[in-house]
Amino acid sequence: AEPPPAQAVPQAGSPDLILLRRIGVVDPYSLDDYRAHNGYTALRRAFALGPAAVIREVTDAGLVGRGGAAFPTGRKWQATASQPDHPHYLVCNADESEPGTFKDRVLMEGDPYALIESMTIAAYAVGARHGYLYLRGEYPRALRTLEHAIGQARARGLLGDDILGQGFSFDIEIRRGAGAYICGEETALFNSIEGYRGEPRSKPPFPVEKGLFGKPTAENNVETLVNVLPILTMGAAAYAAIGTPKSTGPKLFCVSGAVARPGLYELPFGATLGDLLGLAGTPDNLRAILLGGAAGGFVRPDELDIPLTFEGTREAGTTLGSGVVLAIDDSVPLPRLLLRVAEFFRDESCGQCVPCRVGTVRQEEALHRIADRTGPAAASDIALLRDIGQAMRDASICGLGQTAWNAVESAIDRLGAYE
Ligand code: NAI
Ligand code: SF4
Repeated sequence: AEPPPAQAVPQAGSPDLILLRRIGVVDPYSLDDYRAHNGYTALRRAFALGPAAVIREVTDAGLVGRGGAAFPTGRKWQATASQPDHPHYLVCNADESEPGTFKDRVLMEGDPYALIESMTIAAYAVGARHGYLYLRGEYPRALRTLEHAIGQARARGLLGDDILGQGFSFDIEIRRGAGAYICGEETALFNSIEGYRGEPRSKPPFPVEKGLFGKPTAENNVETLVNVLPILTMGAAAYAAIGTPKSTGPKLFCVSGAVARPGLYELPFGATLGDLLGLAGTPDNLRAILLGGAAGGFVRPDELDIPLTFEGTREAGTTLGSGVVLAIDDSVPLPRLLLRVAEFFRDESCGQCVPCRVGTVRQEEALHRIADRTGPAAASDIALLRDIGQAMRDASICGLGQTAWNAVESAIDRLGAYE
């Protein structure tokens, strides 16, 4: 067996945690060890409940998507399960690519059977016999642990025909991404699996109705799926009591940048940004915090009382996204950082629609002009950035173009980056 993942995981393995408690404790290459650490009790409970009651539990628990969009998981599963068209598919989105995000990687490398068990429960709930796990191409260690775990689960009757003798059949196929950020967008991901260019489709129709191969598809992020295990083992009411009424359960936060202890943190929803940064240790010269990654936005060091919930960050005019918390100290030249963000979006735009294809290029050009100046930015370039940003937000087909101006806008409006 390989050693557990090497990256810093500050709280991993603590029995007080829910999602990270097995990380670094369980041997990711041993199904027996997973079972000895409470593995497969949730699937047994799911089989005892039946698909409709599993969806009810997930709905009552208040689980919402952890990829960043916070859509209610129970509603997604119910909508997929009720489609008359067949087959139904389950797709796990493990194409974790938001800059600063590494939570799904830790889960897959450290506790792969948890994801396999959760996918099996999700497939049972929505009536899927076939699941795809679309894995970020740059995660070779996760690929090794998952391939091994899927093989073991198959060999031991936990994937394949008649799982646990319950008459339910399900298997998982891994597909690797090839380095494109856009393939994490769910419909681009479907195109990629189908062998087409990774370009987003217009929604609606939503994947619950017409998804992979045009069939009803439940698509969920890794962290979302793994939350189904505690929901079934502790029950919906106990799970819903964690966090806040609108953001229930535990959440993983990817903390990086100017902190003493970077890494993955698990906290119940509702802790403040200050609580989290207190654990990670911030420097005296903190300049800004980027929440939600490149698609997210900056906040100031005097805004640390923002609650880390979907509703709390929204009310504060920012976003939680996939849980990125990137601390920036005053040694970082903000114009250069923003330029890097703009380069990223220009590079990753799939080019399918004009507002994003042209807008990301024009945005980068304007930021270049500003970064190359000495002294305050020209008002005309700031005004141009606002116009381009609004056009991208209003008229782009998918989330990439719609969010490509978020970080720059927040740096101008909240940080006064160019004053
Ligand atoms: P979205 O809001 O369009 O959709 C969220 C989910 O809900 C999708 O699965 C969608 O199919 C489903 N949905 C929405 N309305 C529905 C309806 N009426 N009926 C049935 N299903 C419905 O958001 P999107 O574009 O999927 O995700 C955007 C988020 O992704 C952003 O918050 C961003 O932070 C995050 N993101 C995360 C990354 C990562 O690496 N984790 C990378 C890039 C972005
Ligand atoms: Fe492609 Fe950008 Fe349009 Fe999305 S918004 S479809 S990434 S060009």
